[in-house]
Amino acid sequence: MEANKFKLSLKFVLFFILLLFSLLSTTVIAADDDSAAMAMLMETIVPTPSNWSKNSSYCQWPGVICYSNSTRVKGIFLKSNNLTFLPPKFPSLPNLDTLDLSVNSLSGSLPSLANLISLRDLYLERNNFNNIPQSFFTELATSLQVLTLSDNPFPSWTIPTQLTRFPSFKVFFSDRANLRGQIPEIFHSFPLETLSLAQNNLFGPLPNSFRNSTIQKISLHSQMLSADFDSNNFCTNTGNSCDPQVTSLLEIAADLGYPVELSDAWTGKDACRNWRFVKCDSNNSIIISIDFRMQHFGGTISPAFANLSALNYIYLNANNLTGPIPDSLTRLPQLKLLDVSNNNLSGNIPQFNPSVTLNISGNPLLLTGKHGRRSFIKVIVIIAAILGTITILTCAFLLRKHVLPKQGMVENQLFKD
Ligand SMILES: *[C@@H]1O[C@H](CO)[C@@H](O)[C@H](O)[C@H]1NC(C)=O
Ligand SMILES: *[C@@H]1O[C@H](CO)[C@@H](O)[C@H](O)[C@H]1NC(C)=O
Ligand SMILES: *[C@@H]1O[C@H](CO)[C@@H](O)[C@H](O)[C@H]1NC(C)=O
Ligand SMILES: *[C@@H]1O[C@H](CO)[C@@H](O)[C@H](O)[C@H]1NC(C)=O
Ligand SMILES: *[C@@H]1O[C@H](CO)[C@@H](O)[C@H](O)[C@H]1NC(C)=O
Ligand SMILES: *[C@@H]1O[C@H](CO)[C@@H](O)[C@H](O)[C@H]1NC(C)=O
Ligand SMILES: *[C@@H]1O[C@H](CO)[C@@H](O)[C@H](O)[C@H]1NC(C)=O
Ligand SMILES: *[C@@H]1O[C@H](CO)[C@@H](O)[C@H](O)[C@H]1NC(C)=O
Ligand SMILES: *[C@@H]1O[C@H](CO)[C@@H](O)[C@H](O)[C@H]1NC(C)=O
Ligand SMILES: *[C@@H]1O[C@H](CO)[C@@H](O)[C@H](O)[C@H]1NC(C)=O
Repeated sequence: MEANKFKLSLKFVLFFILLLFSLLSTTVIAADDDSAAMAMLMETIVPTPSNWSKNSSYCQWPGVICYSNSTRVKGIFLKSNNLTFLPPKFPSLPNLDTLDLSVNSLSGSLPSLANLISLRDLYLERNNFNNIPQSFFTELATSLQVLTLSDNPFPSWTIPTQLTRFPSFKVFFSDRANLRGQIPEIFHSFPLETLSLAQNNLFGPLPNSFRNSTIQKISLHSQMLSADFDSNNFCTNTGNSCDPQVTSLLEIAADLGYPVELSDAWTGKDACRNWRFVKCDSNNSIIISIDFRMQHFGGTISPAFANLSALNYIYLNANNLTGPIPDSLTRLPQLKLLDVSNNNLSGNIPQFNPSVTLNISGNPLLLTGKHGRRSFIKVIVIIAAILGTITILTCAFLLRKHVLPKQGMVENQLFKD
């Protein structure tokens, strides 16, 4: 009996040891293997990339590269796979250094990649992503070196200063991605080699940090940057400062919605160096005339015209401008002519000095002096009509009061009788 009991408990102990061992070994295997994460990806990505199946090891799936000495995934390359859906949060692939999802039809928010703790090269260009979550840049691994976001219909966004989190950041492509605003002073924080931000809505001076940066290739064309790369004659925030006239012209262009005609025509830091649409004085230093006539420009007239204080002539006629004529234009001391004819301006006309020739014809919504007087007369007529009605009603009421007692008198007289 005693011996039997002992044998039984020994069996139990052995069983538990085995159980523990097997549990341990499975967790060890699971922790040393990307199969769970890759199975999750295979089931979530739409459409399933061709030949990704349970029948073969994920290291053999097309577009998946594993390290030669382990079953860890090193890279996932799914460029041009007609992908339409990704997991919103990528599963943990702790050794993945390259993720290429470019040239697909992915839309919505950029995915959360916080679990890719070794990510170095990330390619997301040419998709339909239309949202950048606040956390996207703060979640990315600090090992990031390459990021491509070009050709995605993002809502208007600015260059994120969180890029400074990546001490090895080398390559940034974000062409035609609806970036706006100024380029921030962050490019001394990392060893950037390639920066491509063409055809966005960036404007203003280039950051100082470009001067001593490690950038070798740069593309910033087709926007309102006051830079001149050919001569390395950067106009920067401090020191080699931008001509204030250029800053004013950029403000004017901003209110016109940065038309491409202007971004193509206005490069460099000197507005008097043959900039189209602009005429300068004989010393070639002060802008005296701006001629935007017949350019199909939309947008509004910028109050910043007033900062170009030597302006004599402003031609804005035959465009598609809306909004008011800014009051500030009346403060241009040397203005001789302002032609805004044939646009779609509205509002009141500010009081210009009589020496200014003003052409406002062809703006049906503009409240001209005449229209203003006409509506003033209208108001007077209406007030007069109301006053008249009140007078008549009051008279009628009083008359009735006068008539009634007379009737009463008649009645009384009748009673008397
Ligand atoms: C998928 O596998 C089939 C059969 O093995 C092969 O013919 C085909 O080329 C593979 N497709 C891709 C994209 O690798
Ligand atoms: C996987 O294997 C099963 C059975 O062997 C087969 O029916 C199926 O078509 C295979 N799937 C792929 C994607 O090769
Ligand atoms: C596997 O190879 C990589 C380089 O390819 C190396 O960094 C890593 O230490 C190796 N791992 C093992 C377990 O040998
Ligand atoms: C993507 O779709 C196009 C057009 O439908 C097709 O020609 C192409 O083969 C597809 N590519 C892949 C990798 O499935
Ligand atoms: C660039 O200049 C700034 C100050 O002008 C300095 O802080 C930074 O270290 C410089 N970077 C390089 C790479 O020389
Ligand atoms: C232009 O003038 C406005 C005020 O009228 C001022 O706020 C703005 O900073 C000026 N811009 C420049 C470039 O001087
Ligand atoms: C040209 O510049 C000189 C010196 O800077 C100045 O004396 C002169 O008045 C300027 N001429 C014009 C037409 O502004
Ligand atoms: C003027 O702007 C309106 C509204 O933005 C647009 O519908 C119209 O086509 C434009 N007209 C011209 C001549 O550009
Ligand atoms: C002028 O603007 C008004 C309202 O802003 C718009 O309804 C109208 O279509 C515009 N006219 C033209 C010719 O663009
Ligand atoms: C005002 O502009 C219209 C259209 O451009 C033009 O026909 C007219 O002659 C101009 N009037 C004056 C006084 O310049």
